[in-house]
Amino acid sequence: MDSEALFSDVLAKYSDHLNPYLAKLMAFGGFGVEMEAEGCVIVDHEGRSFIDCLGGYGTFALGHRHPRVVAAVKNQLDHMALSGKAFFSKQAADLATNLAEVAPPGIEYSFFCNSGAEAVEAALKFAKGYTGRVKIVSTEGSYHGKTLGALAVTGREKYRKRYAPLMPGAEFVPFGDASAAEAAIDGSTAAMIVEPIQGEGGIVVPPDGYLSRLRAACDQHGALLIIDEVQTGFGRSGYMFACERDGVSPDLLPLAKALGGGVMPLGAMMGTREIFDSIFSANPIAHSSTFGGNALACAAGIATLEVIRDENLVQKSQVQGELLKKGLAEACSRHSDLVSEVRGRGLMVGVEFAMDEVGELVVAQLMKRGICVAYALNNPRVLRFEPPLIISTAQIDQVVDSFGEALTETAELLTMLV
Ligand SMILES: Cc1ncc(COP(=O)(O)O)c(C=O)c1O
Repeated sequence: MDSEALFSDVLAKYSDHLNPYLAKLMAFGGFGVEMEAEGCVIVDHEGRSFIDCLGGYGTFALGHRHPRVVAAVKNQLDHMALSGKAFFSKQAADLATNLAEVAPPGIEYSFFCNSGAEAVEAALKFAKGYTGRVKIVSTEGSYHGKTLGALAVTGREKYRKRYAPLMPGAEFVPFGDASAAEAAIDGSTAAMIVEPIQGEGGIVVPPDGYLSRLRAACDQHGALLIIDEVQTGFGRSGYMFACERDGVSPDLLPLAKALGGGVMPLGAMMGTREIFDSIFSANPIAHSSTFGGNALACAAGIATLEVIRDENLVQKSQVQGELLKKGLAEACSRHSDLVSEVRGRGLMVGVEFAMDEVGELVVAQLMKRGICVAYALNNPRVLRFEPPLIISTAQIDQVVDSFGEALTETAELLTMLV
């Protein structure tokens, strides 16, 4: 099948059996069929290469198909794939132990699942069970997933409204506004759930001291603090966990994306001994998952933590992130009419445009130049750059140069239109 026929075949099957509307959007955005991926590069059905600056929305911290993670999974496959569940799992036991070693102080236990939304669901359930309370304070613009519980605390009305009534008790306060959160957290609050940096909200970094004030307000009222590090976790922000920068430990810590090393789907909901004791002492199977903690995924997770440590990826994220942010900011300074801000931490960088339409045009221009990016789900004005933490300086230069060209071409196009 030649490349054109292959594309048409996939598009037709998407239209007939997956999601015709998403298919249309993706085709319009110039996305082809992903055929191969290695390191920071994705190759499509036409043999075109793209530097992956989307990074699977934070999944590909180690790049695509990191050889150590692939080897660990292949090796595991030769012995046992999915867990029997009735038996003990050495892989799950080892991964939980290794996670406890790198987790923020006090976070010692893991519940394994398969995705970010599942990790958030577990956190909400544990918070309600532990406190016996209903109210969950969340933030506007937040993204915690699209399953019904996670959706109930996701701060975008557009996703929620058709599915009401959702889990009761969710309240929203502006992100970054500690006083608003302090006013909302009270004796009826089970938990405050917050991203340390909003990802889908548009790479929004809260003011210094924000997490500490949330921690104090939760402590004052006996509420739990859930810090959702599904996207920021494992080095993305230049810290192993973004909450480390503020020296704040959560009570519950949903994780996913990068944990599987970009090779296996894997989520975890970590928490304190006290909370896990409270939930599981009453019923050891109060929460469970058939596939969660399977041997293949845990083997990937174990190898991922080793690679992050051995390749110094947390520090690399800080250094390469600064380079990327500086380069993008320089390119933007030549187009200050188009761009309102460049911001972020580590290799989680957002460019906010002054107008809605610009983001889409710049994405198309970047795709044309072999750079894969997307805008933030909850804020289409923000282009997000979340490349693998292994990205080289030469690749960053290429991204920055292409971004500069894309901005120039977009500016020219806009002048022709007005
Ligand atoms: C902070 C955060 N929480 C939860 C999720 C949901 O994760 P998943 O798509 O794996 O269900 C996401 C996904 O982007 C996220 O960014």
